[in-house]
Amino acid sequence: MKEKIEETLAFLKQKGIPNTTLGIVLGTGLNELVASIKLHLSIPYAEIPHFPKNTQEYQQGQLIYGTFEGKEIVAFQGRFHLYEGYSFFELTYWVRVFAALGGKNLILSNAAGALHPSFQKGQIMMITDHINLQGGSPLTEKGIETLGERFVDMSSPYNPLLRKKAETIAKKEKVILHHGVYAAVVGPQLETAAEYKYLKIIGADAVGMSTVPEVIVARQLKINCIAFSVLTDECNPNFLEPISIPDILAMAKKGEVELIKIVKNLVPVM
Ligand code: HPA
Repeated sequence: MKEKIEETLAFLKQKGIPNTTLGIVLGTGLNELVASIKLHLSIPYAEIPHFPKNTQEYQQGQLIYGTFEGKEIVAFQGRFHLYEGYSFFELTYWVRVFAALGGKNLILSNAAGALHPSFQKGQIMMITDHINLQGGSPLTEKGIETLGERFVDMSSPYNPLLRKKAETIAKKEKVILHHGVYAAVVGPQLETAAEYKYLKIIGADAVGMSTVPEVIVARQLKINCIAFSVLTDECNPNFLEPISIPDILAMAKKGEVELIKIVKNLVPVM
């Protein structure tokens, strides 16, 4: 495992990617951010040794090195999901590569269904904690202890200082920023009414299909995380409507505009 990461790192170094402390994964909610990055280098995932191949045609998978709001960043455009058939280790591989590049702070985003009754679609929730319902962990690997601790602390996976900064920015930018617990499921099917009910009972405020494995690995590697959910649908188990993909995409776009305002102001103070 270590050798693989070293090979990937050697490739990226040889391409000219320097050590970079700040990373952003351009998930749903931050796709458009790429337009604001002053690009120095971009490398398709397909060319990077040991990177899983991106299967979602609508997401161009590439690693970007550039300047954003005056800061050098690496951005990962296109992420990997369990529901695409990747293993936990594969889908979090990029986090290990980011750590090898000197990564210290990571911004993540995702699309999620709103469970909290006062959250509306098109709004943003900052993740304060999570519930892993994906039935596994990216740390259940033979030899994982050679890459970091096995029994990783999860008492505070989302960095409180970064969260405070985001809250201050949201107020200043007049962006409604909810906060709450994100439950990660495997997907790709959405939830039944009974499942949404269950998720509410166990304390989830939003539900989605990503982010948690990446955050677990990031914490193993002592990377500070901040994560946002763009709420694309309202999941009321007592009044569940059939899912509308065009509506979900429209809400993702709406939320994205707001989230980018926060991230643009957050990056300079990270
Ligand atoms: N459930 C799971 N994942 C999601 C949802 C949802 O309702 N909405 C967007 N991603």
